Amino acid sequence: MTDEEKNEMIVTPWEVKGKVDYERLIKEFGTLPITDELLKKIQKHTGSLHLQLRRKLFFSHRDLDTVLDLHDRGTKFVLYTGRGPSGPVHIGHLVPWIFTKHLQDTFHTRLYFQMTDDEKFVIDDDAQLKQTTKCGYENALDLIALGFKPEDTFIIYDVQDIDLLYDIALEVAKRITYSTAKATFGFQDSTNLGWIFWPAVQSVPCFIHKKLTGENVPALIPAAIDQDPYWRITRDIAPKLGYFKPAQIHNRFLPGLGVGGKMSASEPETAIFTTDTPEIVKRKVWNAFTGGKGTVAEQRKAGANPDVCSIYQYLLFLFEEDDKKLLEREQQCKTGKILCGECKKDLTEKINKFLSEHQKRREKAKDNIQKYDIKR
Ligand code: TYM
Repeated sequence: MTDEEKNEMIVTPWEVKGKVDYERLIKEFGTLPITDELLKKIQKHTGSLHLQLRRKLFFSHRDLDTVLDLHDRGTKFVLYTGRGPSGPVHIGHLVPWIFTKHLQDTFHTRLYFQMTDDEKFVIDDDAQLKQTTKCGYENALDLIALGFKPEDTFIIYDVQDIDLLYDIALEVAKRITYSTAKATFGFQDSTNLGWIFWPAVQSVPCFIHKKLTGENVPALIPAAIDQDPYWRITRDIAPKLGYFKPAQIHNRFLPGLGVGGKMSASEPETAIFTTDTPEIVKRKVWNAFTGGKGTVAEQRKAGANPDVCSIYQYLLFLFEEDDKKLLEREQQCKTGKILCGECKKDLTEKINKFLSEHQKRREKAKDNIQKYDIKR
C-alpha cells in the first residue's frame, strides 16, 4: 500500500481513517460551515461561547440557524444523541456529550439518548447480543456521570425499548428505497438485512417526542460528522411524515494517541477509556505520537509542531480550558521552550484528575440509572 492510499480519507458511521479534511467533508456531505455570524447568533442565546464552539471543534451544521429562529418564535427543540455500545466509552465519545449537556443546561430542554445495542450486534459478525446490551448499560453510566439531569434525560436501550420505536421505524423504512440506502451507506450484496434496516431505527428518536408528548418540535443532534449520513436520509423523509427535519451540529474527531485517524476503541493502546487506571493512562500518554523532533537539542533549536501533536489536541479539545494558557503552550512548543516530556506529564495529570472524579460519579450512577430509562 502506498503512503497516499494509507492516508486516504474514509468517513462513514462505521469507519474513520486517514487524514480527515473537514472542509472537504462539508462539501461532500452538503452541510454548512459554522460561520462567525452563526456563532454570534448562538451567543445571543448562550451568553458566552462554549469552549467547543470558540475553538471551532464544532465546525459544521444543518439547520442550526432554523432551529434557533424557531426557538425565538416559541417553538422549542429537543436534543438527540447516542452511542453504539461496542466496548467501553473513550474520551472522544465525551466530546459531543459534554456539548450536549451544555445545550441542555442552556436551553432547558429534553435529551433523547439512543443506546444502539442492536446496531452493534448486526454490524459485527462476532458480536453477541447479550454482550452489546450489557455494554449499553455500562456506557449509560458514563453519560449519567457527566451530570445530565434525570428529569430531562431519556435513555432508549434499543432492544429493551423496541416496542416504543417500531411503528415509527416502519414508517421511516417504508419511505427509503434500497437504492438510496445503498448510495448513502455503501451497502453491498453481502450486507445482512439487519444492517440494511438499521438506519430506520437510528432515525426514530428524531421523531419520538411527538409520540410521547403530542408536541411536534424539531430535534437538534450534536454528534461527530461520521453520523451525518443517517440524517441525510432522515431529513428527506421527515416532512412526508409530518415532522420537522432534524437539525445537526457536527464536531471534529478527537484523534487517537497514534499518528492520524480518530480515537477508536478498536485501537485500545491509542485510546483513553473512561475506566482506565492512572498507570494505564500514564503508559498510553507516554507512548503517544507528538510533533516533537528526534533529539532534545534539535527541538530546543527548531521547536516542535503542535498541529500534528496528539497531546496538544487533547488539551485543545478537553483538558486546557484557559485559552491564554493554551496559546502560551503552543508558542512555547513552537519555539522549543517546552519539550514533549513536560506536555505528556501535564496531560497525564490532567486526564487522571478528570478520570478520578468521573469514575466516582460513574459508580454513583449505578444507583440512579433507572431514573433515566425512557420507560421509567
Ligand atoms: P458511536 O458509539 O460510534 O459514537 C458515539 C458518539 O461519539 C462520536 N465520536 C467521536 N467524537 C469525537 N471524537 C472521536 N474520536 C469520536 N468517536 C466517536 C460519534 O460521532 C457519536 O456522536 N450509531 C451511533 C449511535 C447513535 C448516535 C445517535 C450517535 C445512535 N443515535 C445519534 C449520535 C447521534 C454510534 O455508533 O456512535
